[in-house]
Parts: sequence; structure tokens; C-alpha cells
Amino acid sequence: MGKELRNVVIVDAGRSAFGRGARGKLVATRLDDAAAQVLRELIERNPKLDPAMIEDVGMGQVGSASELAGIGSDNVKKLAGLPQETATFQTNRQCGSSMETLHRIAQSIMVGAIDGGASIGAERMGRQLGGGGSSQEDRNRNEVYNEKLLNTNDVQRAPAPNHDDIFSVPFPDAILDQPTNASMLQTAQNVAEAYGLSRQTLDEFAVESHRKYGVAFDKGIYGEEIISLEVETPVFDDEGNWVSAEVGEMITFDMDEGFRPSTNLEALTNLRTLPVESYTDSEVVVTAGNSCPTNDGISVAIMMAEDKALELGLEPLARIVGFGVAGVKQQFMGLGPIPATRKALDNAGIDAGEIDRVEFNEAFSAQVIPSIADLGIDMDKVNVNGGSLPIGHPLGATGARLVGTVARELRRSGGRYGLATQCIGAGMGISTIVESMDN
Ligand SMILES: CC(C)(COP(=O)(O)OP(=O)(O)OC[C@H]1O[C@@H](n2cnc3c(N)ncnc32)[C@H](O)[C@@H]1OP(=O)(O)O)[C@@H](O)C(=O)NCCC(=O)NCCS
Repeated sequence: MGKELRNVVIVDAGRSAFGRGARGKLVATRLDDAAAQVLRELIERNPKLDPAMIEDVGMGQVGSASELAGIGSDNVKKLAGLPQETATFQTNRQCGSSMETLHRIAQSIMVGAIDGGASIGAERMGRQLGGGGSSQEDRNRNEVYNEKLLNTNDVQRAPAPNHDDIFSVPFPDAILDQPTNASMLQTAQNVAEAYGLSRQTLDEFAVESHRKYGVAFDKGIYGEEIISLEVETPVFDDEGNWVSAEVGEMITFDMDEGFRPSTNLEALTNLRTLPVESYTDSEVVVTAGNSCPTNDGISVAIMMAEDKALELGLEPLARIVGFGVAGVKQQFMGLGPIPATRKALDNAGIDAGEIDRVEFNEAFSAQVIPSIADLGIDMDKVNVNGGSLPIGHPLGATGARLVGTVARELRRSGGRYGLATQCIGAGMGISTIVESMDN
């Protein structure tokens, strides 16, 4: 290629507050408009950044918001007022979509193909994961679930050859014998069983996450990353469905709706368990209290070649120094961050012990706890301001949110390396390592 790899920095990152899926404050808001507004705000608050320097805009989403389907990223570019000459693309790596987009933009900058770009994450989850969609009965024979996916070959079923180097426990045969289309909730239960985690351990983790979020919110820490939006209050009918013909009053939306200040162990202990099975005669432990909610939301990160950013006098949040993505057995989906982070650490050339701050997507308490333990990272460094249990997890929007959050927290705490990591629905993990600009 004849070019040296260049350093890439995050110039700025921000997001909307995350609303509750189907019944939250973003239901009556077009997400193309909201994404454009967040992007525009980031550009405006960095006056030294010429919008024409954003050469490529990627948008990661799992695909549930119809206003963002097809060329949604291009529509957002136009609505944000960027030049028509800015290129655009869409990405779908399920929950890892906007982190994947961020990697792609960063890699293009690294190899010198572009000088700057933006990663957008957007999701409207509705009532169900992925926004629901039509039932199997409404689908033609090319659209229905492919039953052949229920079978696995010997290689797919057998533990990975390097299993013992990555995970501290064997995966129970009774779970590996299950088809690889487990619900996300079931994968959380499976991980809890493999690692022998009790309901109380999971609930305590959730209580602590809400507590930390409350403290951080009151200190204004989330005010730095949340870009407040004026949104229309959705009007719902008696069954909780949005009545789009009715127009509600405009309100300021600047706080994540997943946060429940009253969360305590007693309340969580009293929640019923969710419809999952134990395949090893263990306690059923997964509840709405120790699972992330379903959400709507937007995240944006603007990246640039470090030399260009500094030349312009910008003050970047952090430098991107490592990426990793890896697959795991689908039934243990939540453990994806372990191999993905190992790859990212290798890519960055550092050890887990050198990580100062971690933003770990809390899809479920059940997967964060063993993943952090197996990575050998001190839990005190993880989600110090709370995590996705209170913040929410609008699938495709989470990745860029995690990277922005950890970059800011690194700057706040004076650490050197930060890790953003998350599990991915099909059975994967994705990780990004950032480094403080002081190094
Ligand atoms: C877990 C899940 C099924 C719950 O959905 P839900 O039932 O609509 O969730 P709710 O917010 O209504 O919570 C259910 C109950 O738990 C209670 N609850 C939830 N969190 C609570 C908390 N922190 N403190 C107290 N009560 C809480 C609610 O108040 C509600 O109680 P109610 O039924 O008496 O009103 C849904 O959020 C989900 O699917 N989450 C996972 C999403 C996912 O898989 N993402 C991808 C991961 S890879």
C-alpha cells in the first residue's frame, strides 16, 4: 500500500438519552432527524472541524427503524447538512453494529483512505428484540426460518480447541446439545449455569449499576455525553400502542429511561424469573431486573487522523489503539467479549492488567460478571458510572456509546487505556481499546 499506518482519534462523541422501546419518549420522534441532530450538534460544538472533513458516514443498526432502512445513513447525512460529496454506508453486526462502523471508519483513516469520518448507531427496538417483524405465518417459503440451522456439525458442536485458554469453566454438554438459536435471555441463563452464578449475585450487580448511574447522573457526568433533544411526547392508547395521528407536547429529553432510582435488592428479589429453561437442573436466575431493557436511541462518534486533528487545534477524547471481534458458541453468547477482548489486547500490544477503565455493555448481569473475571480485570475498573442495565441497550446504537463513554471516563480519571466491549446476538463479541491523549 506504500503508506504508514496513521493514528486515529475520537474527536468527539455523543448520544441521545436512551428511551424505552415501544413506550418511551422517542417513540414519536423520527430517528433520522434525531441522528442528524446529534451529529450536527457534535459538529457545531467543535467549530474547528470543517464538516467537509467528515468524508464517510457509517450507520450501524440492526434494522428495526423503517425510517433508517435502505439509505438511512445518507438521509442522516443530508439532514445534518453535510455535503453531498460525503460518502455513506450501513452496517449490521447486530448489537455490535455501531462499534463495527467505528472500526471501519478508523481503519479507513489508519490506511490513509480518508482523513475523517463518523460512526452513527441508531435503533428503535419496539416491543421485541429487533423490532418484532411479521410472524412466521405471514412469510413465504424463502422467508421462514431455515430449519437446517437447528443442526450443528461436529466442529460446531465440539468445544473450541483453545477453549481452556479462554474460559475458566467447561461448557456443560446438556447446553451444547441445544440448538444454536437460543433466545438472548436463555443464553444469559446458560452462562449463569456454566459459571454457577446465583440470582442474588446477579441482582446485586444490577442494584450496584443503578446506584452508580444515579450518583454519576447527579454529578453531571452523563450531561457530557447526552445531547438533549426536544422531542414530541408520544400519545398512547389504552393498550399502550402509539397513536401517530395525535401530536403530544414538546419536551426536553435528556435522561435515560431505563434508570430506576428506586432499584434495590428486595425489589429485584421479588421479580418473577423470565421464560428460560435450566438444562442442568440449576436455579433459574434471569429476570427483567438483571437484564438490560429494550430501547430506542442514537449514538455518534466523529473520528479523524490524529495529525490532522491536532493541526486543526481540536481536543480529541482519546486515540483508538486496538480492535477485536470473535465468535463464541451461540448458547453462550454473552461470553463473546472474552475472546474479542483478548484479540483487541493483542492488537493493541498490551495486557489486561494495563486497562484502567472498562465500559462493558451490561446486556445481562450474568455475562458481565464471568467475562470480567475470565479476562482478569479488576471489577472496580468496570462501568464506574453504571452501565447498560440503567442506561439501556438500543442494539445498534450501543457500540459507539460504549467507546465514547469509556474515552470520556479515561480522561476524567486520568488513566491510560480504556476498553469498550460488548456481546453480540448471534454469538460474538466486539472490543475497542482506546488510549488517553496524554500518552
Ligand atoms: C427482560 C425483558 C423481557 C423485560 O421486558 P418487560 O417485561 O417489558 O420489562 P419491564 O420493564 O416491564 O419490567 C418487567 C417488570 O420488572 C420490573 N423491573 C424491571 N427492572 C426493575 C428494577 N430495576 N427495579 C424494580 N423493578 C424492576 C418492572 O417494574 C416490571 O414490573 P411490573 O411487571 O410489575 O410492572 C426485556 O427488557 C428484554 O427482552 N430485555 C433483553 C433485551 C435483549 O436481549 N437485548 C439484547 C441483549 S444481547
